[in-house]
Amino acid sequence: MIGSQQIHINSRIRENAENLAAALEHHMLKSFAPDARKELRLFSAGEAAELLGISTSFLRKLHFDGRIADVHTTSGGRRHYSMADLNGIRAVLDDTAKTQGTYLRGRRPGDKVQVLSFLNFKGGSGKTTSAIHAAQRFALKGYRVLAVDIDPQASLTTLFGYQPEVDFLHSGSIYDAIRYEDPLPFSSIIQKTFFTGLDLAPGGLILQEFEHETPTALRNNLQPPFFARMATALQEVEADYDVIIFDCPPQLGYLTMSALCASTGVLITVVPNMLDVASMSQFLQMSADLLDVVSNAGARMEFDFLRFLINRYEPSDGPQQQVVAFLRQLFDKEVMVASMLKSTAISDAGLTQQTVYEVERNAFHRSTYDRAVESLNAVNDEIESLMQQAWGRG
Ligand SMILES: Nc1ncnc2c1ncn2[C@@H]1O[C@H](COP(=O)(O)OP(=O)(O)O)[C@@H](O)[C@H]1O
Ligand SMILES: [Mg+2]
Repeated sequence: MIGSQQIHINSRIRENAENLAAALEHHMLKSFAPDARKELRLFSAGEAAELLGISTSFLRKLHFDGRIADVHTTSGGRRHYSMADLNGIRAVLDDTAKTQGTYLRGRRPGDKVQVLSFLNFKGGSGKTTSAIHAAQRFALKGYRVLAVDIDPQASLTTLFGYQPEVDFLHSGSIYDAIRYEDPLPFSSIIQKTFFTGLDLAPGGLILQEFEHETPTALRNNLQPPFFARMATALQEVEADYDVIIFDCPPQLGYLTMSALCASTGVLITVVPNMLDVASMSQFLQMSADLLDVVSNAGARMEFDFLRFLINRYEPSDGPQQQVVAFLRQLFDKEVMVASMLKSTAISDAGLTQQTVYEVERNAFHRSTYDRAVESLNAVNDEIESLMQQAWGRG
């Protein structure tokens, strides 16, 4: 009896899976033309000035004085800037600035690469959303950024226009650079992306193998041990980047711990409701216990900073405000000042695998778009200043 019911359920699940796969493919085809590659848009003069940290009138003057190259101009005379244009302008400005590094804010000799992990063991708390927006914002500000997708669900990889289950099913994911058997050089799996200044180490379902293989590797004393594999692999490429960002899976497995051991900064995403906060308490307890174990095994565990990042914040929601007040009282300066607002601009952009920084302002109600961008910029600029402080500036 049970047997026949099981077969029934299995075939039902298979049927669901097939229907879902077909529907998803249809959705993808509708969202992107079959082999359309993602392309980064141009930025308005207002956006360019904000990203450069100058006024629009000064930007106009730079053109007028012939100090910077011409950029794309519409028939109506509006200037539009590519990211290459922005980086070119930064180089010109920095050359003549009183203090070098005013406009080129990346690493200087002696600065260590910043490695940030976005973490929480709850799915849906906004790890991927905050990681991708941070990565893009830093690239837009001229930093050299590497995003590393260590979630087997690979949603970060999808946001770059890849289909992980097709493109990196058997090879080419971060798994290949950290696996125990014949790991590949990290440089061989890095993808240049449509987003200038932002590279990707793709994820994929195969990352799950790392969780499966690690217990045996530990028994056989394979070196380096799991907690040092990410840091070891990164050594090969870290000189090429100012910032490396890990999008972690929603669990505290070996992958997450390996990323943590390579990190200089940790951002724990929190949705401000009591249930999420309660589960975060368990998460922190478990993390502390596990990190003790790996520390005792010889893992390096020194962060420049750890911050709680409040996501999906609705300032008009009374209970949420109470939870946020509670967290601020409890964790004080470890709760970021800026928080990510709950916004349909963020979730709607996500439906077509885009970020708020990729979509055009006119795709949304203006105030909706502006509020989302403002809140994301405030969050990312706060993280940027934490990095600058870690470099002894800021
Ligand atoms: N601040 C926000 N406002 C609205 N939707 C959000 C916000 N943050 C995340 N989302 C949406 O919630 C879903 C889960 O977020 P995601 O970043 O994928 O979480 P995680 O990586 O922690 O599982 C996504 O569909 C995303 O678009
Ligand atoms: Mg995620």
